[in-house]
Amino acid sequence: MKKLRVGLAGLGTVGKGVYDILQKDAKLISLRSQTKIEIVAVASRSKKDFLDPKIKFYPDVIALAFDPEIEVVVEVIGGCGIAKELLEEALKNGKKVVTANKALLAEHGLEIAKLVEKHNGYIGFEAAVAGANPIIKSFKEGLAANEFKEFYAILNGTCNFILTKMKDEKRDFAGVLKEAQKMGYAEADPTLDINGTDTAHKLTILAAIASQNQPDFKQTYIEGIEKISFNDIKLAEEFGYKIKLLAIYKNLGDALQQTVYPALVKSSEKIAQVDGPFNAVLALASNADWNMTIGRGAGGLTTGSAIVSDLIDIACKRDKSFLFNAKAADLDQKPIQAISEHVGKYFLRMKIDKSKARKTDLVQAIFGDKIKIEQVNFIDCNEEILCGFITGEQKEKNIIAILKNLDLELIKSVGFLRIEETNF
Ligand SMILES: NC(=O)c1ccc[n+]([C@@H]2O[C@H](COP(=O)([O-])OP(=O)(O)OC[C@H]3O[C@@H](n4cnc5c(N)ncnc54)[C@H](OP(=O)(O)O)[C@@H]3O)[C@@H](O)[C@H]2O)c1
Repeated sequence: MKKLRVGLAGLGTVGKGVYDILQKDAKLISLRSQTKIEIVAVASRSKKDFLDPKIKFYPDVIALAFDPEIEVVVEVIGGCGIAKELLEEALKNGKKVVTANKALLAEHGLEIAKLVEKHNGYIGFEAAVAGANPIIKSFKEGLAANEFKEFYAILNGTCNFILTKMKDEKRDFAGVLKEAQKMGYAEADPTLDINGTDTAHKLTILAAIASQNQPDFKQTYIEGIEKISFNDIKLAEEFGYKIKLLAIYKNLGDALQQTVYPALVKSSEKIAQVDGPFNAVLALASNADWNMTIGRGAGGLTTGSAIVSDLIDIACKRDKSFLFNAKAADLDQKPIQAISEHVGKYFLRMKIDKSKARKTDLVQAIFGDKIKIEQVNFIDCNEEILCGFITGEQKEKNIIAILKNLDLELIKSVGFLRIEETNF
């Protein structure tokens, strides 16, 4: 049987997942690919006990790019430092690459796409977006005959887990985050997850594939979930909504929407029902109509599953596609819409001084006729009233202007979240 010789860079959560799958599922994999996919060398900062001592170990990861025995380098180190250098050297030396590194592809995607083409190479990156969900293959292959009008995605299991737990257990953000860390659903440093950066990396990659636009991480609008309180979730629930951290792409014609923010979604909509650590992508495709995938976005075996599927593709010679679904030179440069131009319904939440307010004419007292308020809800706290308002459709810059000019005698604090309607 023919062989595919792999060099594995990184032996952490995902590296071990890949290693384990190639051992335990070797028979199935060789049956499907007619190839023995074999790890011939590994590289990492430190050696691990689980490694077969017959496999070569390099403490310098770049050595993998120069090992003539290796045909494919699997990069599961992460970040844009040594991982970028390894990927570039591997491509220059005629090796194919499989990676789970969303930060690298989102922040340096165009440069990497050009390098792949220059060296007639290939990068498989199914694992970089939505973990075990085969969303890259779905967009690049299964839905290849479609334009993507819009998609809504839950791309960070940590955030979805935290928001779900806050709602189910009526708890605030900080306590749930600590528990998520203890349970292994959040990293010791969870910053990039909870501030939306990780979701934005994945959105940037998926949006480039969907639009044949150059990947543009810098223009992506990003808000995280750090400021969501249980009261926000409770008020949203009273209106029939859930709060989800959504990655949203929309083709607006002359521009693209590319945003990450916590949004209110009707509880009856399918994407709102994706709870816990699960990821989901709901896409509206021009011919196929609505399409949705749900599955685990993180973990060793789950992410390893996506990496090994890319290795099987290489073994079966299904490795000819362009990185972002078109030649690098043909990728468009459509502008990304400024968030101030965003149009939609808004959920406004305010704390009102109880001694100065009467619920009966509160909407009139706060907003006058400056804005259409469609629904109102109150939560009575000790000395204040917590109010939630759902507006009619508005441009975001109008909402901000209105909120800036509110009667500060009456209102103790104010904030807003956007409302999304997927109609699916
Ligand atoms: N974890 C997930 O569920 C998941 C899901 C989807 C995508 N990803 C992506 O997969 C990649 C790997 O994630 P992970 O969770 O497996 O990370 P991890 O557990 O932190 O493992 C990283 C590995 O890289 C090694 N490493 C780090 N810096 C190095 C350096 N300068 N030289 C040599 N080796 C170095 C580490 O060595 P030591 O063991 O010695 O520290 C470790 O073996 C990242 O791009 C991540 O975004 C992860």
